[in-house]
Formats: sequence, C-alpha cells, structure tokens
Amino acid sequence: MTKIAIVEGDGIGREVIPVAHRILELLHPEYEYFKVDVGYGRWERTGCPCTDPDIAQLKTADAILFGAVTTPPVKDYPSMVLRIRKALDLYANLRPIRGDGFDIMIVRENTEGLYSGIEELTHDRATTLRIVSRKGTERIIKKAIDLARQRNGLLTIGHKANVIKSDVFFRDICLTEAKAAGVLCNDKFIDALSLDLLQHPQNYSVVVTTNMFGDILSDVAAYLVGGLGLVPSANIGDRYALFEPVHGSAPDIAGKNIANPIAAVRSVSMLLDYLGDSRGAGCIEASVCQVLKKGICTRDMGGSVGTREFGDALLHSLRQPY
Ligand code: NAI
Ligand code: MG
Repeated sequence: MTKIAIVEGDGIGREVIPVAHRILELLHPEYEYFKVDVGYGRWERTGCPCTDPDIAQLKTADAILFGAVTTPPVKDYPSMVLRIRKALDLYANLRPIRGDGFDIMIVRENTEGLYSGIEELTHDRATTLRIVSRKGTERIIKKAIDLARQRNGLLTIGHKANVIKSDVFFRDICLTEAKAAGVLCNDKFIDALSLDLLQHPQNYSVVVTTNMFGDILSDVAAYLVGGLGLVPSANIGDRYALFEPVHGSAPDIAGKNIANPIAAVRSVSMLLDYLGDSRGAGCIEASVCQVLKKGICTRDMGGSVGTREFGDALLHSLRQPY
C-alpha cells in the first residue's frame, strides 16, 4: 500500500495543503494518508517543533506532501525544513519554471553549501561555513545530467567561481562530469545568470547550482510564471521524497482564504510523477490550465476566488471525463 505523509505546517500551509490533499485523494483513494504535525505552531503548543519520532514517521512514507513552516528569526530556533531535508538526505531540490516558450528545471543542491548549519556566533563575529563536498557535488550534477538527458536540453551551471573558492571546486566537478557524460553544458556567474534567466528564459533548460543560490534563483524565476503561488518543488534523495510549494508560510496572508493553492497542487503532480503515475500528474496540470482559462483565479493572479473555492473548481474539472 502506498503511504503518503501529509504535513500542513504553518500559515498558508494549513490552507493550500488541504486543497492539494483533496485532489490527491480524489485521484488515489487507495493510498493510505497520515498527518504529521511539525512546525512553529507545534512549538508554540508543545515547546518542540519536530521530534525524532516525527522524523521516523516521515520515513515510513513513500512520499511526503509538505506545506510550509514558519521559521521565526530568533537565535535559538532551528529551521525545521533544513532539519527534515538533512534527516531524510533529500539532496536534490527540483524547481520547475514552465511558461509560454520556456521550460526550465532549477536543480538546487539541498543539503550543504551555505545552509550547512555549521555556524558560530560570538559578540564580534558571525561565521557560517559554506561546505561544498565532492560527494555532494557529484550526486547533484549526476541528477542534473540525468534531467538534461531526458529533456535533450542544455545544462547550465550557476556559480560564483570568480570570488568563492568552493565554487571553483563546484564548477570544475560539474564541468568535468557533464563533459564525461557528453551533455551540452555551459556555466555562468550566478548574478549575471539571474538577470539573463529573466530576459532570455528560452535559452535555459536545466540549471544546477548550490543551495542558497538555488533558493534565491527559484524565487527570482517565479517572476516568469506569475509569482510564488504557482511554483512547486520536489526534494528527492535516494530513499525518501518530499513535495512542497516553493513559497513559505506567508504569515501576511494566512488565515484569509486568499492564498493561491496552485503551487501545492502542482507539487502533488510532481509527487505522482515520482510515484510513476504520469497520467494523474498530467491530469492535474491540465485541470489547472482549464480552470485558469475560465478566468477562475486567486487574488495574486488578479482574480477574486478564494483558496477553497479554487480547489472546488479544480476538483470539478478533474471529475469531468477527458
Ligand atoms: P513566503 O514565500 O512565505 O512569502 C513571500 C511573499 O509571497 C508574501 O508576500 C506572500 O504573501 C506571497 N505568497 C507566498 N505564497 C503565496 C501563495 N501561495 N499565494 C499568494 N501569495 C503568496 O516567504 P517569506 O515571507 O519570506 O517567509 C514567511 C515564512 O515562511 C518565514 O518564516 C520563512 O522562514 C518561511 N519559509 C518556509 C519555507 C518552507 O517551509 N519550505 C520556504 C520559505 C519560507
Ligand atoms: Mg526559499
């Protein structure tokens, strides 16, 4: 039996994930679903945002559907997302940006780089260690090469090797592997790449980069498709997989039934692709397009439909025979 863990998390995660969950249940009533409560809300209630048994429970799932969790900017609160990505070794973060005339997959290394979590804070200095390991780089470039092959597309390596030694290391390993694999490949400085991606998105197919650069680049690239409410992601390791919108818990709009659930719903589409149901994944994409074509959309896209009502429209569309 396929087991799916549902983590709503905090803020709009509690609004968009129920929509995504309903869609997944409609397509796969035979899956077993179980909820895991982690995040800031849990911390406020119990003093602990996520326990070892929670992690163990997440590991029993074939796939995890995740909303977003709030990370308050206080000194001693650890990022739950980072903890889960590390505990499950979800090293590849795939963030598709698809639109008219372009189809880009951002492949972000997800376990090290500037988010290694190795930090020191003293009165006079704050230090964050940026780790780029050979193992970490080899496994992420391998993933990116596989994707470039599947799409028969260009592989672009984003880095800052003109300034950072760890990125000379990253770039050189990536270039060597890409050349050995025989895929078409180029490399660009991440700052110039960020602008060029917006100006000429049609020139990109797969973009591989380190952790924080990939985090920033994917929010920037969301501009191409109408904002954060639309971009899903997959976090994949060798054993576990977690699917979540690129956006966070958006406390500024939480609890108002105005969040766009498309990113969460598209994350379900990526989850189904991962589990081998490409037909279900395609149906979700088609339904999103169909509903948007009717002019039904949430406030961030210029409409006035609520989160739940958008979900109702999607469910209605999915129930229609194709
Ligand atoms: P955010 O992505 O939550 O929001 C940025 C802006 O985009 C806000 O104005 C928000 O209203 C808007 N937005 C985001 N998703 C939307 C949607 N579905 N529909 C309509 N508008 C949407 O990023 P922010 O504000 O920097 O972070 C808020 C909290 O989320 C922080 O505590 C942060 O640590 C956390 N976060 C968690 C993530 C995760 O759990 N994977 C990822 C990113 C941030
Ligand atoms: Mg981010």
